[in-house]
Formats: sequence, C-alpha cells, structure tokens
Amino acid sequence: MIDAVKEILIDEETIRKTVNDLAKRINEDYKGKNLVLLIILKGSSVFASDLARKLNMDVTLEFMQVSSYGSGSVSSGEIKILKDAQIDLNGRDVLIAEDIIDSGNTLNALVKLLQKRGANVEICTLLSKPSRREVQVDVKYTGIEIPDEFVVGYGLDYAEKFRQLPYIGILKREVYTN
Ligand code: PRP
Repeated sequence: MIDAVKEILIDEETIRKTVNDLAKRINEDYKGKNLVLLIILKGSSVFASDLARKLNMDVTLEFMQVSSYGSGSVSSGEIKILKDAQIDLNGRDVLIAEDIIDSGNTLNALVKLLQKRGANVEICTLLSKPSRREVQVDVKYTGIEIPDEFVVGYGLDYAEKFRQLPYIGILKREVYTN
C-alpha cells in the first residue's frame, strides 16, 4: 500500500469478483445484441477495460470525456463535452461504463444527451456513493455502494494521481487538505 492511502477499501480480489458479477448480468441481458460500451474518460478507463474483456456479445468500444460545469469538485447539472463519441448512437444499445456516481449530475446530464441522440441507454457503475446523490439517476448495474470517503485507485484520481493503483483505497486526509 502506498503512503498516501490510509486503508484499502476494496481489494483486487473483490474488484475482480465484482467486475465478473457485473459482466455476467450484462451478458445475460444483452445476449445476441450489438452493444456500444461507452467508456467515460478518464476514471472509467481501468474498470471498463476489465469489464469489456468479460463481455461475450458483439461489443463496440466508444469513448467520451465530459466535465461538469461548476467550480472545484462540486458538479452542476450541465456537462461540457471534452471528447465526443465517434459513431452515430441513434437506435443503438448503449451501456455507459462509469467508475463512480457521486452527486449524479454528470450521468443525469449525459443520459439526457444520449437519449436526445436516439440511443437506448443504460448505466453500469463500479462504485456509487448514495449518500451524496443530488439528482436521481436510474442505474441498471451497480458494483459496490461505498460510504462518503475520498477514494482513489483503479481509475479514480486525486489531482490526476493514483489512477494506476490496482485497489481502491481511502486517501489520507492530509493529502487533500493542504
Ligand atoms: C468523476 C466520475 C464521474 C463523475 C461523477 O469524473 O468519473 O464521471 O465524476 O460525479 P457526479 O456524480 O458528482 O457527477 P471526473 O469529473 O472526476 O473526471 P475523471 O473521470 O477524468 O477523473
């Protein structure tokens, strides 16, 4: 464990099992379909690449990068598209892969945007912090619900660091309060 991390919240084995369970449900639900797995950069990249390799229907990988408007870590109801998908999503089965849902603002706005484009959208998130929710989001696949702690690793960052950790850890308070 690295020094900045106070404790491991979710270890590698639990992550692996959670990803497998999610993939199993998705494989059953989308059997015979042609799925667009929409990977939301950057946080979802690690989770989605593990998830994608467990899927056994026809899968197209697409990427978007969005950011919430607003200052600091507080997200508002609007999103800015930093990188857009490269294919027409009209009529497609789109599964959004997210690393974490916090306030719900990012996903709420993104789902509306994709529905406007004619996509049949569902959400798969590895982590969810239900206590932080500001807007209701219908999430079909949730991996693990976690408490309101500052978590890093397996794609999640603090100031663009720690995404590469193979586990999800709780960051020491002094790392982000200086
Ligand atoms: C994180 C996460 C979600 C969003 C969730 O992304 O990947 O997209 O925040 O927060 P919300 O539910 O409060 O809207 P972030 O903007 O930190 O970008 P990153 O994935 O590049 O780290």
